[in-house]
Order: sequence, then C-alpha cells, then structure tokens
Amino acid sequence: MRSESPSLPEAAGQPPPRQGTGVPVEISGIAQIFRRADLETRALERIDLSVKPGEFVAVVGPSGCGKSTLLKIIAGLLEPSSGTVGIAGKRVSGPHTDLGIVFQSPVLLDWRNILDNVLVQIDLRGGNPAAYRDKARTLLAKVGLAEFENRMPRELSGGMRQRTAIVRALIHEPPLLLMDEPFGALDALTREQMRIDLEKLWLERGQTTFFITHGISEAVALADRVIVMTPRPGRIERILEIDLPRPRHKDVITSRRFADYCDEITECFMRHGVIQY
Ligand SMILES: Nc1ncnc2c1ncn2[C@@H]1O[C@H](COP(=O)(O)OP(=O)(O)OP(=O)(O)O)[C@@H](O)[C@H]1O
Ligand SMILES: [Mg+2]
Repeated sequence: MRSESPSLPEAAGQPPPRQGTGVPVEISGIAQIFRRADLETRALERIDLSVKPGEFVAVVGPSGCGKSTLLKIIAGLLEPSSGTVGIAGKRVSGPHTDLGIVFQSPVLLDWRNILDNVLVQIDLRGGNPAAYRDKARTLLAKVGLAEFENRMPRELSGGMRQRTAIVRALIHEPPLLLMDEPFGALDALTREQMRIDLEKLWLERGQTTFFITHGISEAVALADRVIVMTPRPGRIERILEIDLPRPRHKDVITSRRFADYCDEITECFMRHGVIQY
C-alpha cells in the first residue's frame, strides 16, 4: 500500500519564465516498415503528434515499439515509409542539423578533454570553438562538472560522461533537443540528479524536447505531456497532460497526483500485457 503522500505545494505553482527558444514539431501519419528479403517488421503505425514550441514531451513504451525509430525519423536520419515531419514549419527531408541529440551512451572522443568534447559540436558546425569556451564552462558548471573540464573522458564516471554529452547537445542552443534514453545506463541516484539538472537547463532555455525513456516516473517527473506507446507496431495509446508544478521538487514527485499519473500509465501497459503481475 502506498503511504500517505504530502499534498502539492501550491506556492511552487508557477514555473519560472522560460526564454521560449523552442520550435514546433508536427508529426503526421508516420508509419515505418522495415523490409529485408522476406522479413518485414512493422515498427510504427499512424503516429500523429503536434508538439508546441518549448514543450517537453516524454515518450514511454515497451522495448522494440519504435521509439528510437521515431526519433531518427524526426531528426531526418531515417526516411519514413509514410507520413511527414515538420520542424518550425519546414518539412524534414534529410538530416536536420538545427537540433541536439543525446543517445543512451555518451560517445565521447577519448583523446579530447571534457571541455573540448563539448566544443567538438562547434567544430563540426564550422564555428569558432574559442568563442564558445565561456559558455561551455558555464554549462559544465551547471551540471556539476566545473572542476572536470580538463579531465579526459576515461577519468569520469558514467554519469559525468553523460552530463558532458548533454552539454555538448546544448552548447549551440538548438531549438530542438532529442534524447534517446539518455539516463538508461546510470544508477538510480545519478539518474535522479540528472533529471533535476535537465529540468533546470530546460526551464532556462525552453528548447522543444523529446525524451525517450522506459521509466514511467521519470517521464511523469520531466514532461509536459507523456506519450504512451503500444507494443510493436508502435502506436500512440494515450497522451497524458502532466499538470504538476515546476520545478518538480521532492514534494511534487512524492505527491498523490504524481503517483496517480504513474498508475494511469502502468495500467495502460498492463492492458497490453507489457507489465504483468
Ligand atoms: N534498421 C533496421 N532494420 C530492420 N529493423 C529495424 C531497424 N531498426 C529498427 N528495427 C526494428 O524496428 C523495431 C523498433 O525498433 P526501435 O529500435 O525503434 O525500438 P525501441 O522502441 O527504440 O526499443 P528499445 O526500447 O529496446 O530501444 C524493432 O523490432 C527493431 O528490430
Ligand atoms: Mg530504442
């Protein structure tokens, strides 16, 4: 049985103002079928979703339901079998570069220190890394890496490496951030801290964010809306508006309303046999 939860702190009610740098994303009729010889995998079916500028959307769904496929389609790294994606009103028809991506494992360059790993984003875009040094340092400090900018990736823990990857995805201030289970490989405590840090960064910048996770409570803790997917072929089963105050501090995530959102999502998965007791 759940213990008595504290009520929500109404004083925390209003989120701090956001800069609102995000772009709208329009996903229309996306379906994906992978064909190889006589093998056919229907990965995604009828995905329609309008995401508002600066919105934080979390996608939860069982393994293999097409979440990573959807992210690749949004980024223009994979052409869908049908349907379209529009970012800031423009149809995506090839790799879209005005975004930041964070994958499950951080993929840092072993031979560059942490600061230079962040600045590689600027290098790759043909910019002047020196002009971004201060900003990189500020962002690294925000995620607790102030004293580590000169260290090499091998000297950092998994959580620290993943923080570096998040800063690298944000350094050029993209209006869209795509995250594919970015905390998947982390221990529970580090994961919780990363969640808190990510919310802070997002509240400051307001970039439109897609966050893929297997974690029901992580999705509820972070998102404005949680998209619940069915098993493959992945379809949108439910969309939950998460009406909880920000920042989502301890009182919020231990509240009754928070637990109710998590229950609702769990019940969706139980109906589909994804979770069985
Ligand atoms: N390039 C590919 N060629 C063939 N099949 C693929 C390809 N990419 C993905 N698939 C298949 O599409 C389905 C969806 O894969 P996807 O990686 O999108 O799932 P996912 O929801 O991200 O899973 P997980 O939670 O385990 O990461 C899977 O059945 C997978 O085998
Ligand atoms: Mg995946």
